[in-house]
Amino acid sequence: MVMLRLTAEQYQKLPILADESTCSGKTYIVTGSNSGLGLETARHLVEFSAACVILAVRNLTAGDNAKKEIERSTGRSGVVQVWHLDMASSESVETFAKKASAELDRIDGFVANAGVMNDTWSTAEGMETSITVNVINTLFLGALMLPKLSDSGRKFGMKPTLLFVVSALGYTVKSEMDKTRQGSIFDGLYDQKRANMSRRYALSKLLEECAVRQFASLCPVKRTGVIVNMVAPGLCSTGLGRDVGTFTKIMYESVKAMMARTAEVGSRTLLHGLVAGEESHGKLLSGCKIKEYWVPTWLSNEQGQRLQKDVWNEVAARLERVQPGCISKLS
Ligand SMILES: NC(=O)c1ccc[n+]([C@@H]2O[C@H](COP(=O)([O-])OP(=O)(O)OC[C@H]3O[C@@H](n4cnc5c(N)ncnc54)[C@H](OP(=O)(O)O)[C@@H]3O)[C@@H](O)[C@H]2O)c1
Repeated sequence: MVMLRLTAEQYQKLPILADESTCSGKTYIVTGSNSGLGLETARHLVEFSAACVILAVRNLTAGDNAKKEIERSTGRSGVVQVWHLDMASSESVETFAKKASAELDRIDGFVANAGVMNDTWSTAEGMETSITVNVINTLFLGALMLPKLSDSGRKFGMKPTLLFVVSALGYTVKSEMDKTRQGSIFDGLYDQKRANMSRRYALSKLLEECAVRQFASLCPVKRTGVIVNMVAPGLCSTGLGRDVGTFTKIMYESVKAMMARTAEVGSRTLLHGLVAGEESHGKLLSGCKIKEYWVPTWLSNEQGQRLQKDVWNEVAARLERVQPGCISKLS
């Protein structure tokens, strides 16, 4: 069912729902914006007269090239800034969040877009790398940015958006999740012998979605003034998967050749996430619409809610060890 829906949606035309009236004079941060969906989202925001767009990247040279490219194509300079952020390092995440909180007057939209697709085992900060990058440190960054987003909302009388880029592929790995769930979820994920790396990316995106759903439910807009939502951009032709092995690459590239969107078209779904408003809080967006009906029953029923809480509790416990209070003070 998920794959059918995904395939059908790939061929739909997507509107550009943001424009000057929604972005003019505003400040945005887009992580992983030197390429792919992040770059095209940032380019649109500059084109729509944003006052400041921060490219949060791990490779500053690539970030500077992206900045030049955006300035060339939009004819606007003095808007884009390139800041360092390595999502594989909690220290880098903390430094970035501190800088953003101290130096920016306001943040209207934060796009947690950076992500990796790995099919070989590697580790970062005592965990398999894609789990560190796509799940643990992505939630860490979201949690650290929430107070600044809240303050911006209060100060400027608006509701900022904290957007996480997920993937509907996460809905295809229930059995993988069930296997990992025997005992501590994250201990299971760090067991190389049990890891099925060909499904690891999809699993990381399911875990990210579980954690974001719980995070959003613990941080209602009524209290924080911040809209937290999730966008599944569909299959897009980007740099994602450039490091996977030959077999996975052949499979992935042939599916992409048949039905992938361009990165620009995919970025329209992220722009929609930024303007979707309060109604989208805690929800999945895809194809420029709220798509909660896509969420499979095993994830929305009582057992799914349990899974969501278990994932969140383990992520939160890890983050509290990195920076005590970073999660507990949010509620
Ligand atoms: N493309 C798709 O079909 C698709 C579908 C569903 C969801 N998504 C999601 O969309 C998001 C964007 O991916 P994309 O498709 O645009 O791929 P992409 O072109 O590879 O962009 C990913 C970005 O994340 C950055 N990144 C990776 N690891 C990082 C780290 N440790 N620290 C900081 N930045 C890091 C990359 O930086 P480098 O250039 O330095 O590696 C790159 O800028 C990801 O979260 C992905 O999971 C993509």
